[in-house]
Amino acid sequence: MCGIVGYIGWQEAAPLLIKGLKRLEYRGYDSAGIALMNGSLLVMKQKGSVSGLEEASEGLSKEMKVATVGIGHTRWATHGEPSDTNAHPHQNASGDIAVIHNGIIENYSALKQELIAQGYVFFSDTDSEVLVHLIDRIWKSDPSLDLESATRNALRHVDGAYGICVISSREPDKIVVARKGSPLVIGIGSGEYYIASDAAPIVEHTNKVVYLSDGELAVVKKDGYLVKTIENVAQEKIITELDFSIEKIEKGGFEHFMLKEIFEQPAVMHDVMRGRVRLSEGRICLGGIEDYLDRLKHAKRIVICACGTSWHAALIGEYLIEDFARIPVEVDYASEFRYRNPIVGVDDVVIVISQSGETADTLAALRTAKEKGALVMGICNVVGSTIARETLCGMYTHAGPEVGVASTKAFTAQVIMLYMLALTLSKGRTLSHDEIALNLKELSHIPEKATRILELDSQIKDIAERFKDARNALYLGRGYNFPVALEGALKLKEISYIHAEGYPAAEMKHGPIALIDKDMPVIFIATRDSTYSKILSNIEEVRSRKGRVIAIANEGDQEVSRLAEHVIYIPQSSGPITPLLTVIPLQLLAYHIATLRGCNVDRPRNLAKSVTVE
Ligand code: G6P
Repeated sequence: MCGIVGYIGWQEAAPLLIKGLKRLEYRGYDSAGIALMNGSLLVMKQKGSVSGLEEASEGLSKEMKVATVGIGHTRWATHGEPSDTNAHPHQNASGDIAVIHNGIIENYSALKQELIAQGYVFFSDTDSEVLVHLIDRIWKSDPSLDLESATRNALRHVDGAYGICVISSREPDKIVVARKGSPLVIGIGSGEYYIASDAAPIVEHTNKVVYLSDGELAVVKKDGYLVKTIENVAQEKIITELDFSIEKIEKGGFEHFMLKEIFEQPAVMHDVMRGRVRLSEGRICLGGIEDYLDRLKHAKRIVICACGTSWHAALIGEYLIEDFARIPVEVDYASEFRYRNPIVGVDDVVIVISQSGETADTLAALRTAKEKGALVMGICNVVGSTIARETLCGMYTHAGPEVGVASTKAFTAQVIMLYMLALTLSKGRTLSHDEIALNLKELSHIPEKATRILELDSQIKDIAERFKDARNALYLGRGYNFPVALEGALKLKEISYIHAEGYPAAEMKHGPIALIDKDMPVIFIATRDSTYSKILSNIEEVRSRKGRVIAIANEGDQEVSRLAEHVIYIPQSSGPITPLLTVIPLQLLAYHIATLRGCNVDRPRNLAKSVTVE
């Protein structure tokens, strides 16, 4: 949720830290702070955005402006309201140790009481502050220790999740970092090292990184780093090369990251399929699961766990896999799965889907499934993420960095992955070679059809203009388009704060119909598939109650245009593939309504891109 950066080297640390924090603001942004070290240690932190902190940093003393060691943090509140004092870094009373922390210290309350009883004074309401006092107490009780061992000993008392950076003016030549459950990456420069909670702030400086694993602690100096386990056993780490560039994480001429990411979808669709869809041979090659294909195809059942938008992709995956491969599929919210003692065993396959690869509940679901002996497979976007590393096999979506908090291109990439997976599982079992080849051909036309939908942007903006003041909205779809209705409603509520609900259209009669009046926008996904005539009847029902109908229909559909107030026409496609198209106008509609209402779409209130706490 929160973002961490650190720097040690030969350049001025403050501007580097602030730039890094800006790249991380999408992770959480109610307050921000930095600690700089040059002889003494200085902490500057405040409520609000990183730009506010940047302004304040202009007043730094000359000495601190040239400091070449520092750490920084953007906070998204979990314990304690957003405020100057609750912002990180936290310091001990003598002001010679500073700590930043991502995650949650679950036993913080007991630790805090213990420390208070020993005379420690707390300045904030955060769980994180216990860490700095704990390190201080341990170090004071045995001055022969160094910062590394004091930190290591402190972490032994801690339950919960953490990604931390610790600096001290008593040992000014190092940053001590550690992780358990919250990601941390070390970027390797020349005579300098960068630390961050994900690669976004690092990529403009170096493409060589080392990912810390859970239970590891590293001492980073300007001339080298050493990674050990919390138990003090030295670790050999592999240096990974990042494969995305800084241009990719900047807005590229669009007003918002979200809009850029919506428009990137045709290119992303190509990227997901590249090297995997062998059109001329009519086959798919999914390298990341090849060795496990037999077990996957013979699974008694597949369970898919995810959160948020990824959960909606999972629902489409359920339809696809059952439809094509005839393997029973269940979809679970990761947060429910992990706590309900699920019946899962060695004959089952559990697929976890996550854009970030760091969502705490999804990670916990993965670990639960693993413990129960299931084959665990991942579909992730962020390369090297924890979920990607902890699953036995899996596939990357290759959608590139997604910065907008509301997920768009990652969703379409996940659905394509699931489409390719469903076809792969059906090979030699339920679908013939020709049937698979036909489906692949259809898939290969999707990027071009998506491009045509994006050309409708100004029409969709006009529609948004008419509905921007709505207080509620209902999204209805059937079959493959039911999860799309859920996703359309989620997009609208996430970024415009209009209350929106998605339903299977037939369920309308069992409740939502009571809400329909002359002010209620009802968005129907009414593409021509097996339930088309049923959807038309549902539209009639809404019309007769004076509801305002916006319909997504196939080009040339006269029936729908007779019934709906506004129709967005999209190219024809087969049922299983439609979600990849129908979702795009809904993303654009939500985007335009939100911007017309003056909302900050890239950073919606109370939301975070990567939810690494429960
Ligand atoms: C947060 C984000 C959503 C995302 C969900 C799951 O709520 O705001 O956009 O769908 O987490 O994230 P994941 O990274 O696991 O897909």
